[in-house]
Amino acid sequence: MGAVTAACLADLGHTVCGVDINAARIAKLRRGQTPFHESNLSEVLKRNLGAGRLSFTTSAAEAVPSADFVLIAVDTPASDSGQADLSSLHAAARDVASSLEGETVVVIRSTVPPGTSASLAPLIRAVNPGARFDIVANPEFLREGFSVADFMRPDRIIIGADDRGAGRRVAGLYRGLRRPILISDLATAEMIKYASNSYLAASISFINEIANICDQVGADVSQVARALAMDKRIGRRAYLSAGIGFGGGCFPKDVSALACLAEGHGYPAPMLRAVMRVNELQPELVLARLKEAFADFSGLRVAVLGLSFKGGTFDLRSSPALAVVRLLAQEGIGVRVFDPLADESVPAEVAGAADISSDPYQAAAGCHALIIATEHPEFRELDLVRIRSSMKSSLLIDGRNLLDTAAALRAGFSYRGIGRGHQTKPVSP
Ligand code: UDX
Repeated sequence: MGAVTAACLADLGHTVCGVDINAARIAKLRRGQTPFHESNLSEVLKRNLGAGRLSFTTSAAEAVPSADFVLIAVDTPASDSGQADLSSLHAAARDVASSLEGETVVVIRSTVPPGTSASLAPLIRAVNPGARFDIVANPEFLREGFSVADFMRPDRIIIGADDRGAGRRVAGLYRGLRRPILISDLATAEMIKYASNSYLAASISFINEIANICDQVGADVSQVARALAMDKRIGRRAYLSAGIGFGGGCFPKDVSALACLAEGHGYPAPMLRAVMRVNELQPELVLARLKEAFADFSGLRVAVLGLSFKGGTFDLRSSPALAVVRLLAQEGIGVRVFDPLADESVPAEVAGAADISSDPYQAAAGCHALIIATEHPEFRELDLVRIRSSMKSSLLIDGRNLLDTAAALRAGFSYRGIGRGHQTKPVSP
């Protein structure tokens, strides 16, 4: 998020220096290479490095003193208790504080519990009593894989400031985008980010619950979702794709952090807890479907296509696909995995739980069941007839409702999606 923000702000004409404590990451970014898979980012990096508007360093002391704005975009992961872990944010704020010179606006891009940005002011002052600064919250809404496009064409830009002038100055950074800007107080801007991610996560858990009921009554959740999305009060881009659940570096940790925050204030947040509960149960559906089809798991082999938490990108953080792999391995099932975007982290992540295949056909050969766990678009193009003919049994569990059911049935599969129960047929050898 920091790399995208730096590159895109430079693309808007600002002079930007990106700072990270990870030297290998900075070395890559200096060459215009991205440390992760992100469409168009490399081009934007190279264009702005070439134009001299963008540089990278590992030293805040080099970048901060001359800056008018310092944007902090460090991760705020979930701690063991589920609360937001603010240790990287505090470390970054102290690092910035010691180098502040002149008047600076410190902009918090990280997702932080309401109240956090304001609490950084005493922390900065403790390090640097003479510092002259304002704090502004400017949460991002970037989706992994689409973050350059999301930065350049946001639905709205959220700016929170207790000092209106500082808020307007940050708004000025984004003038070139010509998008709606909403200025609020600090705590409200911080809350907007949590509310937005929690709402989206809630709509996924909602449709997953509807899907689970569809499976019981023989209805098709895909058609139900399409009809819901045609209602303008819900909207055509609503998060209504049923599947094995949401994952990634944002939704799970943000819903959990908001619930913990509420509970800390004495409000039990039953709805947020239910959103998380439905999501925890979704990967178990895969196991339940295998249990329905096979009385005994001894000697059972399955292929899992997809490990990433979502399609078109590779990130294993809170990945439901990885949860499925681990659940199956715990049952003693032989698992083979394939992900087209897999990186060098995979062997350690699946060690002892699965064998890694280099292509989907190799993964499926000799298996009793095929599981689609990530919505990678290339899985739509699979030669299903070829896969089916190499398998020992006909079960296909489409954990992302990605495939055309009729095509899967024609290829000889016993197809089970999520909430598409009525289209199944008995599993055969
Ligand atoms: C999300 C938010 O969209 C973004 O605004 C925020 O800043 C960061 O968190 P991201 O984590 O990149 O972005 O992923 P997103 O594309 O939103 O998907 C999140 C998860 O929900 C994925 O696991 C995806 O598979 C799942 N999902 C999404 C569904 O299961 N159904 C849907 O309808 C949509």
